[in-house]
Amino acid sequence: MAPAGIQAAADAPELVYCVHVFCCTNERPTTHWRGSCAHKGSRALCDYMCRLGMVLGARRIRINHAGCLNVCEHGPVMVIYPEGIWYKYESQSDVAEILRSHVMGGVPVQRLMVAIDPATLHG
Ligand code: FES
Repeated sequence: MAPAGIQAAADAPELVYCVHVFCCTNERPTTHWRGSCAHKGSRALCDYMCRLGMVLGARRIRINHAGCLNVCEHGPVMVIYPEGIWYKYESQSDVAEILRSHVMGGVPVQRLMVAIDPATLHG
């Protein structure tokens, strides 16, 4: 069952995961001009979010490490589907709020959302 506020199309197959989180944990050389989310703490914060999800009993929710999501300038970033909402996070309290409110409660966290303009993507 999807969290409140999330609905699939009537003819869509049942979702394996009701919510799927992708946290960029890409690491580049420190001298790279785009930087990388791993150098801003994303790996530890993604791991923390996974552990907290298990502690809170999250079911049919998947939190994955991901490669570069191509919005490095905003990092560290995550994107959550099925809504396709992007977040920038910096602390354990940020990812805990995203997990509790959006992932488990279906209520996006406005203060951490990032608007990505597809026209500005590299490549
Ligand atoms: S390194 Fe994280 S979005 Fe590119």
